[in-house]
Amino acid sequence: MKSQQRKHSALYRYIEKLQGDRPWGTILDAGTGVNSIRWLSELSSERWSAVTGSSTEAKLARESVGAALRSQDQIVVGNWADSQLMTEEVYDTVIADYLLGAIDGCSPYFQPYLFKRLRPHTRKVLYVTGLEPYVPTDEPKTKAGKLIWEIGRFRDACVLMKGAVPYREYPLAWVVDQLQLAGFAVRATKHFNIRYKKLFVNGQLNIAVNGLERLPDHGLAQSLHCRAEKLREEALQLISEEGALDTCRNYVIEAEPV
Ligand SMILES: C[S@@+](CC[C@H](N)C(=O)[O-])C[C@H]1O[C@@H](n2cnc3c(N)ncnc32)[C@H](O)[C@@H]1O
Repeated sequence: MKSQQRKHSALYRYIEKLQGDRPWGTILDAGTGVNSIRWLSELSSERWSAVTGSSTEAKLARESVGAALRSQDQIVVGNWADSQLMTEEVYDTVIADYLLGAIDGCSPYFQPYLFKRLRPHTRKVLYVTGLEPYVPTDEPKTKAGKLIWEIGRFRDACVLMKGAVPYREYPLAWVVDQLQLAGFAVRATKHFNIRYKKLFVNGQLNIAVNGLERLPDHGLAQSLHCRAEKLREEALQLISEEGALDTCRNYVIEAEPV
């Protein structure tokens, strides 16, 4: 079945292609959100469980899946760092969609244990998606690369100043190593170029500025707002000239338990 999603649709379509004629069976969405839950609820599965560390995310996921939630499906709020989460539950297909990069927000420093934790829950196949890190890098040479890098650094700095924890992404090579150490054999990997447009720029800058008014230093908050608008203007101008900011990549990995 074709995914109706626009966000990451190439990644989900690639996973469908990798899966081929094999039945999805039972599915575990190990880090759910509105995109992956809508996608998996359209697949022909026996049942699915979708896990999130956040009750807000669970509410959004429930709303977005609507009537597609069957009696055998469940949305679970829990933390993979909790050894009791999903005890004894094994799924044919496990999906870790943009989960690794979000781990710092729920269980900092848990990343090297994530795939070991998911291994006993995986009967047949694990699909991992992620984003190649673009913030903790040297200054990019291209105009688009530099703008994306500046937006990412600005966003993360604002998130930290507001007392929250930004995402921490990992490169495909690191994930492949971790999967092998955790008892998986990697069957396929593929990178995808991302064409970031207005939605991305506005989304990232909104993450940065929302809640800045709660900073005790109002002058600093005001300056950060101005900086965000400057970055927004520059990025939207470049997108109107070049069509998109296309220096980032995401990836899909297929792995099987051995
Ligand atoms: C970036 S979001 C989800 C992306 C999602 N697949 C989508 O639809 O776009 C990451 C998800 O992983 C969850 N998560 C992060 N760390 C977690 C942990 N330690 N245990 C359980 N869930 C976690 C977050 O709560 C969130 O639901």
